[in-house]
Amino acid sequence: MNSAEKFISVKGRSRSLSTQQKEIFLLLKNYELNFSFFKNKNLFKTKKIFLEIGFGSGEIIFREAKKNPDHIYIGVEYYKRGVTQLLKKINDEKLKNIKIFHGDVHKLLTKLPREIFDEIWLFFPDPWPKKKHEKRRFIQKKIIGDLHYLIKPKGKLFISSDDTNYISWTLSLFLLMDKFDWLAFQPKDWRNPNNDYFGSRYEKKAALKNKVSYFLKFKKK
Ligand SMILES: C[S@@+](CC[C@H](N)C(=O)[O-])C[C@H]1O[C@@H](n2cnc3c(N)ncnc32)[C@H](O)[C@@H]1O
Repeated sequence: MNSAEKFISVKGRSRSLSTQQKEIFLLLKNYELNFSFFKNKNLFKTKKIFLEIGFGSGEIIFREAKKNPDHIYIGVEYYKRGVTQLLKKINDEKLKNIKIFHGDVHKLLTKLPREIFDEIWLFFPDPWPKKKHEKRRFIQKKIIGDLHYLIKPKGKLFISSDDTNYISWTLSLFLLMDKFDWLAFQPKDWRNPNNDYFGSRYEKKAALKNKVSYFLKFKKK
């Protein structure tokens, strides 16, 4: 087991589910992302498809999927409790346009066909603020290449964080890679949340602590 896997398994074990939550978790089989889904190439041409990486409790993906039943939303999360929270919401509302990948997003990204997503969202990724932990941050040069491969031409990528280090790290790598345009023309473009994608659990937590959050929006070149 490498250090990332150790971290994941520790995190997965950290708080066990109640009996009721375990029952809800079993619903995953009804909403789980199946790789055969990607065989239907026509789907990507006719539908808008969104990917959220690390959806936490799933507030944003749930709200968007409910609002736009014709679009397809794929959510990735390895935190079991978060998956359970989203499952409860989508099962209560009987939403049919969300698929969940429960696991490490790195295991998913390299298995997907190119140019399938209209948008990819990464809201408040784990910041790994210490210099010695930089390698654990999700945003890396290789990942920027993977995201570029997966996004449709002119598709968008949204990244937010309340960690100044993470935001400067992200911006410097995106500028270096030059695969996306940064859609910021004035400070309000990165200071204000996007009109639709606001109010995640971690964004609210940051606001309660009076921490400033940053909202980056990129467009594939
Ligand atoms: C700081 S939380 C933010 C959650 C949510 N996006 C929000 O804004 O409230 C980061 C989330 O990313 C998930 N995560 C981190 N690394 C991941 C990975 N490699 N694969 C899947 N999920 C991951 C964590 O389990 C956690 O729920």
